Amino acid sequence: MSVFSDGRARTREASAGAVAEDATLLAELQRLDDANVIRSYARLPVAFVRGAGAWLWDSEGNEYLDFLSGISVNNVGHCHPRVVEAVRAQAGALVHVSNLFHSEPGVRLATRLATSSLGGKVFLCNSGAEANEAAIKLARKAKPKGDIVSVFGAFHGRTYGALSATPQEAKQAPFAPLVPGFRAVAADPDSLRAVVDDNTAAVLLEPIQGETGVHVLDERLLQTARELCDAHGAALIFDEVQCGMGRTGSLWAFEQLDVRPDALTTAKGLGGGLPIGALITNQRYADVLVPGDHGTTFGGGPLVAAAALAALEVLDDDTLLARVRDLGELMRVELEALPQVREVRGRGLMLACEIETDARELVEHALLQQRLVINATGPSTLRLLPPLIIDANEAREGVRRLGAALAAEPAHGPAGS
Ligand SMILES: Cc1ncc(COP(=O)(O)O)c(C=O)c1O
Repeated sequence: MSVFSDGRARTREASAGAVAEDATLLAELQRLDDANVIRSYARLPVAFVRGAGAWLWDSEGNEYLDFLSGISVNNVGHCHPRVVEAVRAQAGALVHVSNLFHSEPGVRLATRLATSSLGGKVFLCNSGAEANEAAIKLARKAKPKGDIVSVFGAFHGRTYGALSATPQEAKQAPFAPLVPGFRAVAADPDSLRAVVDDNTAAVLLEPIQGETGVHVLDERLLQTARELCDAHGAALIFDEVQCGMGRTGSLWAFEQLDVRPDALTTAKGLGGGLPIGALITNQRYADVLVPGDHGTTFGGGPLVAAAALAALEVLDDDTLLARVRDLGELMRVELEALPQVREVRGRGLMLACEIETDARELVEHALLQQRLVINATGPSTLRLLPPLIIDANEAREGVRRLGAALAAEPAHGPAGS
């Protein structure tokens, strides 16, 4: 039995019955949420109380198959025994000391991240947006006052720098004015050529755009970005917050491309479920930031770093990554055969389906009737991000549940179409 399937089996067993059912909990949480939590999220009517591998249980004892992984966070599955053990051990030894001192897990993690990717240096932080903030500051310091160029369809986060690089009217407009010096272009080589010049500090791209519906950027665009950055002394930065950490079947998405970035950002799956982000550079950009330039209190703290090292042990595994590629192909073929599926896109276990019915209604139906967790990135787009530790039976079961949900929905087209 492989390490990850063994780990999954033990986790499921160990967690069974760990949390008592409580039929009143959901209603109470909904009431408290309404009264006390700022309404920045629209939540579905389920309260999860435990998880193991690709499975989740709600407060009423229902079992769900998780094909969302907390939006590409639980890549190792829920409560992977290696992550749980690493967190337990580290929590009993040392949780926080600040970046004024040395601490082993963070330095070991940075070393592993640098050697597994671009060979430069690493800044550890707490989220994807923060990793992109660090990348933007790095590029601006290397090319003072230079522009940051991103493309339409991108999502880089909600903080001001990351939001300024996220050219989406609905997300940006209420928060104007944004940070100056950001430029957005269509995601094609000619549009990029028209804006990148000697005043460009960085081109920031997601090799696969996640939040806007799993759009794989054309390799010619990535190559053009590389050439333009080389010609104008700008940094090519890949945002691998969603598509990294094994999601596409290689530890980093860029490994399946002919293009190497100067820096990449990662977060989400990096912490095995705990909040962490990282900026990783190549040698050229390794020493741009110096003491006093940038920092964050919790960045690279011992607890999350220990969890991330354990997650990397699980995910940086050739057997697991080959399975991610194989299962991605298996799912693509089976998804294409489902009723109401017009198109399937993606790479590895980062997949989206264009469907002929309202995607948001479908997500709720799949959740409540089929006990399948997925999400919608648009009116007709479903996104599937299963944990990377799933086996073929779980992959097929997820597609079967989605098929059952689709078969029960009328083909009326997405709402508003
Ligand atoms: C590609 C990409 N970059 C950045 C972010 C922001 O990450 P976080 O929500 O951890 O700030 C996300 C989040 O969805 C993302 O998908």
